[in-house]
Amino acid sequence: FSLKGYNTFGIDAKASAFVAVHTVAELAQVLKENTGRKLFILGGGSNMLLTKDIDALVLHIDLKGKEVVKQEEGYVHIKGMAGENWHQFVLYCIESNYGGLENMSLIPGNVGTTPIQNIGAYGTEIKDTFVSCEAMDTETQELKTFTKEECEFGYRESVFKGRLKNRYIITSVTFRLTTRNHKINTAYGDIAAELARNNITLPGIKDVSDAVTAIRQSKLPDPKELGNSGSFFKNPVITKEQFDKVYRQHPQMPHYILNDAEVKIPAGWLIEQAGFKGKRFGDAGVHAKQALVLVNYGNATGKEILELSKKIQQKVLNKFGIAIEAEVNII
Ligand code: EPU
Repeated sequence: FSLKGYNTFGIDAKASAFVAVHTVAELAQVLKENTGRKLFILGGGSNMLLTKDIDALVLHIDLKGKEVVKQEEGYVHIKGMAGENWHQFVLYCIESNYGGLENMSLIPGNVGTTPIQNIGAYGTEIKDTFVSCEAMDTETQELKTFTKEECEFGYRESVFKGRLKNRYIITSVTFRLTTRNHKINTAYGDIAAELARNNITLPGIKDVSDAVTAIRQSKLPDPKELGNSGSFFKNPVITKEQFDKVYRQHPQMPHYILNDAEVKIPAGWLIEQAGFKGKRFGDAGVHAKQALVLVNYGNATGKEILELSKKIQQKVLNKFGIAIEAEVNII
């Protein structure tokens, strides 16, 4: 079974077996029937690089639905099933006048995979509006509710990527969103400029969503046209000491001071300076408009993309002494 249509990188890896589940009951049933068998959980396939065929039962989580599960003064709690497309879910919330997700418009993937790496963009992360998620224990088929604390969110990190990797399958996620007095966040540089360009002075959540969508479309390739997984690397966090040293040699280096001891550097800049932006090696390449994104021009294998990523890591390390780490799951 080819997984080409099930990963946004468009890698033609094969699975030895494949099943899509559409209800929570079906999921429990399939897990039970396959006790002891090697499983591979597949959501939107938007944050992984397949470098080999999968010798396991691939479980495609296709649970659909969304509902308001609670109302409070000025807020709703909305629950989205894991298989809902993320951007469609965000648009639905905006149309319903529920605020809080608009800065994360157009991020590829499904609702159920957003907590795994605490997705974020333009000054917002999932953890800012996250209430809880439900997940099924792959061994006992029990459903467990994880609170925000239990998810142990960090920058592109959670307990599901770490300690509990492969143990639970997220079935739904609940967010707490505003129904009035929306907290409009345009602090992230490009958004304000994009709004100003359209003469919008008092933006609403729809305006912010439109601005983010326009910015992303101008920089990030559409996986339907050009295979990719968004940011391939994380932005590295280095010590203040190391920063002072590198900065002396590269005073034009963009940076965000996180606290007294740590500074975050945009990996896209490092990669561009290392000479990779827009470069193509066979069908594997570095996106011309955002160097943080690796792309598949058609028939690149996962191995070719992985090799390119290693070449980039090495060059950046040699030039700046900074190690950059993959954000994407390498399989
Ligand atoms: N930059 C370059 N060259 C490049 C790319 C970036 O010099 O090719 C510089 C820019 O000039 C800017 C800085 O790097 O000064 C930051 O760039 P940008 O605002 O595009 O954001 P980013 O740090 O590259 C992060 C997220 C993105 C998210 C954007 C916007 C990570 C790993 N990536 O990218 O997330 O959309 O901020 O908030 O944190 C994703 O995770 O898949 C993703 C796309």
